[in-house]
Amino acid sequence: MNYVIEKLQKIKTKELYRKLKYIETAQSPRVKMGGKDFILLGSNNYLGLCDDYRLKKAAIDAIHKYGVGSGGSRLTTGSYDIHKELEKKIASFKGTEASLIFNTGYMANVGIISAICDRNWVIFCDKLNHASIIDGCRLSDAKLIRYKHCDMTDLLYKVNKYKKNNSLIVTDGVFSMDGDIAPLPDIVKIAKENDIITMVDDAHATGILGKNGSGTASYFNCDNQINIMMGTLSKSIASEGGYAAGSKDLIDYLKNSARSFIYSTALSPATIAVSIKSLEIIENDEKRRSNLLKMSNWLQNELSIAGFNVLKTKTPIIPIMVGPAYKAVEFSKNLLREGIYIPAIRPPSVPEGTSRLRISLMATHTPQDLEEALTKIKLIGKDLNIIGGQND
Ligand SMILES: Cc1ncc(COP(=O)(O)O)c(C=O)c1O
Repeated sequence: MNYVIEKLQKIKTKELYRKLKYIETAQSPRVKMGGKDFILLGSNNYLGLCDDYRLKKAAIDAIHKYGVGSGGSRLTTGSYDIHKELEKKIASFKGTEASLIFNTGYMANVGIISAICDRNWVIFCDKLNHASIIDGCRLSDAKLIRYKHCDMTDLLYKVNKYKKNNSLIVTDGVFSMDGDIAPLPDIVKIAKENDIITMVDDAHATGILGKNGSGTASYFNCDNQINIMMGTLSKSIASEGGYAAGSKDLIDYLKNSARSFIYSTALSPATIAVSIKSLEIIENDEKRRSNLLKMSNWLQNELSIAGFNVLKTKTPIIPIMVGPAYKAVEFSKNLLREGIYIPAIRPPSVPEGTSRLRISLMATHTPQDLEEALTKIKLIGKDLNIIGGQND
C-alpha cells in the first residue's frame, strides 16, 4: 500500500487533508461536538427543518406502518405507495409531468447523465458544476466541453465550435460553493437556437428560489423550458435522496436505463415520508424562506463592511474568499476554537487559489447567533490579517 501512503502524504503536504468531525445533536443552529457547544454556520439544512417535530413525527409514523428498511431495489420489491406519492408531489412541485427518486443527488446526476448521453454526445458543462455532474459526464463517455463559469459568450463560442446533433447543456441552478445563480434565460435561449437539450441541478435552489421554493426555473419564469430538472431532497428538504423531473417519457426511460436507480436498494419509507411532509411545509411557508434570505443579506453586508472579500449572493450561501488552502484551514480552525463551526473549502471542491470559508445559513438561526458569530469572525479575521482594522 505504499502507493496509498505516498498519495496521502501529498494530500497532507498541500494542506488538503480532511478529517471527519462528529456532531452529537440534531443539525441545528447550535450543535454539540466533543461535549462542547458550537454555532453551526455551514449546514445545507437551509430551512432549518432537520429537527422539525412534524418531520420527526412523519418518520416515526412511517416506521410504525412500514418498518425500517425498504428491502429491495425499486424495480424488484422495494417500491412503496409512498414512493409513488412523493414522485407525484415532486412533479407537481416542479410543474412537470412526472418525476423519479434516486437514493442521493449524486446518484441522480450520475444516473441521469449516463443514461441520456453516450459517446455520440457532446456535453457543455459550467466549469463550477458539482462533482456529481462531472462524474456523470465522465461515465457517459460523451465529449465533455467545460465553459467558463456563467460566461454566455464562452458557452456560445463553444456551442458553435463543438455542437453535434446530440448535445446537452448542464448547469447547477445555484452553485454550491459560490452561491450565485446560473443565467438560465440565456442558457435556454442558446439551447433553443441550437437545438440542444438542457439540464439544471437545483440541489441548492430547491426550497429557496422561485414560487413556493420550486427552484431556479421558476425564479426566472423559465418553467417548462428545461428538459431535465434534477434536485436533491438532502438540503432544504431536510431528508435524503435526489430526483429527476420532466416528461413522462423521460422518466419512463430513466426507470429503465439509469443504472444508479436500477441497481440500488430503495430509500427507506421513513426517509420518503419525511420528504413528503417537508415539501408540504415548504410550499406553504414563504416567510421561512424570505427571513432566511433577509438574514443572509444582512450578514453579507456586515462582512463586507468589515473588509472581508465576500461573494455577494441572493442565496443563503456566503463565501468568504481567503485564497491559499492553509489560510482557509487556519481561519476555520481558529473559529472552531471560539465555538464557531464554518468549514474551510479547498481544492478539489473549488479551484486552486480560491479556498474559502463557506458560510451557509439556516432559517432557524437567530439574530443573536449571527451577531455572536460575526464578532468572532471579525476578531479572528483581524488576528490572521485577513482583514485590516480600519473598516470596522
Ligand atoms: C449541486 C449539487 N448537486 C448534487 C449534489 C449531491 O446531492 P446529495 O448530497 O444529495 O448526494 C450536491 C451536494 O453536495 C450538490 O451541491
